[in-house]
Amino acid sequence: MADRYQQFTKTPLGKFVVPKLGLPNPATLRRYRPGQPALEGPALLGAAPGGRLEKTVRAQLTEAGIEVISAPADRHAALVFDATGVKDPGQLREVYRFFHPVIRKVGPSGRVVVLGTPPELAEGRERIAQRALEGFVRSVGKELKRGATAQLVYVAEGAEEAAESTLRFLLSAKSAFVDGQVIRVGTHAKTAPTPENWEKPLDGKVALVTGASRGIGEAIAETLARDGAHVVALDIPAQGGDLSAVANRIGGSALQLDITAADAPAKLAEYLTERHGGVDVVVHNAGITRDKTLGNMTEGGWDSVIAVNLAAQLAVNDKLLGDKILRENGRIIGVSSIAGIAGNVGQTNYATSKAGVIGMVNVGAPQLAEYGGTINAVAPGFIETKMTAAVPLFIREAGRRLSSLGQGGLPVDVAETIAWYANPASAAVNGNLVRVCGQALLGA
Ligand SMILES: NC(=O)c1ccc[n+]([C@@H]2O[C@H](COP(=O)([O-])OP(=O)(O)OC[C@H]3O[C@@H](n4cnc5c(N)ncnc54)[C@H](O)[C@@H]3O)[C@@H](O)[C@H]2O)c1
Repeated sequence: MADRYQQFTKTPLGKFVVPKLGLPNPATLRRYRPGQPALEGPALLGAAPGGRLEKTVRAQLTEAGIEVISAPADRHAALVFDATGVKDPGQLREVYRFFHPVIRKVGPSGRVVVLGTPPELAEGRERIAQRALEGFVRSVGKELKRGATAQLVYVAEGAEEAAESTLRFLLSAKSAFVDGQVIRVGTHAKTAPTPENWEKPLDGKVALVTGASRGIGEAIAETLARDGAHVVALDIPAQGGDLSAVANRIGGSALQLDITAADAPAKLAEYLTERHGGVDVVVHNAGITRDKTLGNMTEGGWDSVIAVNLAAQLAVNDKLLGDKILRENGRIIGVSSIAGIAGNVGQTNYATSKAGVIGMVNVGAPQLAEYGGTINAVAPGFIETKMTAAVPLFIREAGRRLSSLGQGGLPVDVAETIAWYANPASAAVNGNLVRVCGQALLGA
């Protein structure tokens, strides 16, 4: 699973050879450790005239222990710009003016965050100008070096306070492999409860994670437990041994169940009700691949992938929502894939199922808003797991390097993004699809 090339770049020989030959030199990404400072330096905060977020954001960042400055310094850990005042394409110049003098002064694993108004909630020239911000941020993400990332957060009017969990996530090391993304806050819920302890936002919550015995699911279970949740780790009986080991390690419980079984939703509902009186967070991580080009694919190969990756999830959602087993301010989180966005050779079944997960979020978002919860999904790119270790070398290297961060992500990167969705303070983050892909070129 190790990225041997990246390891080589850190050796004395690699440090000598790599720049001489102009080879890719992926940065060591800063990743979250409990107790680490929110940022390794100051955040420069600016705003276009008439911006409505600057004041709230200043208070939120200060509260998070970040040093917020208004005048440029020699080096910045983050650049944050409130572009909500941009009401006309001509005013996009304000964005240029803020970033141009300081963009070269972003530190390693630094953060660029642009804040705007959701274009669909604006009209006329303001809508055009706000939409234009996407092109800016995605390009900045591609220009930044040394593990720095850029994101655009559209915050609906009235949802200013509710953007706090998103800002904290994006500025922190938890978002190490999230790059070039567009996030919407507050189109549905307008308030989000602030956790008493930001290190343990899931204290007292129950989280179900499917496919939790290994890989990304194991990391999700660990991360949600770290954040205070009691995790019900679910996997097929054949994975029982590994599943128990994960559950024991994190102080959670193990549930052996094939989610495609006809009675799985009922069994799951019964288990969650009897043991925990309900559930707060549901993470549909279990997924399989049965890769074959379409002409070679058997009907069984098609059906099994759709069953695990999509149909079973819909059946579970229907049961948990229908019987009100998902509690108020509950969360449903899907795991899609960049294959579901871009398509992939040999993966018509898988890409169909993963695009279907995006559809599940689209359809579910208004339904969950009414219910008093949220539904969102992550779309992982190249993540270093046993699954990707089995990919042929050339394709594997292309998967790692053809991205702004020039490397694969770790399971924990997907898990941290899911933990941000799961945070009770993210109640206004609904209907989003965030890629955890290091800004991969695939499907960009
Ligand atoms: N690894 C990547 O690079 C990558 C990229 C994009 C998306 N994903 C998605 O992330 C998720 C996790 O991937 P991973 O790499 O950790 O895979 P993995 O194969 O290591 O883990 C998947 C888990 O799901 C379980 N599972 C399969 N069918 C099940 C069923 N019917 N009922 C219950 N559990 C079942 C498996 O037993 C396994 O433990 C999947 O949905 C995958 O499609 C992974």
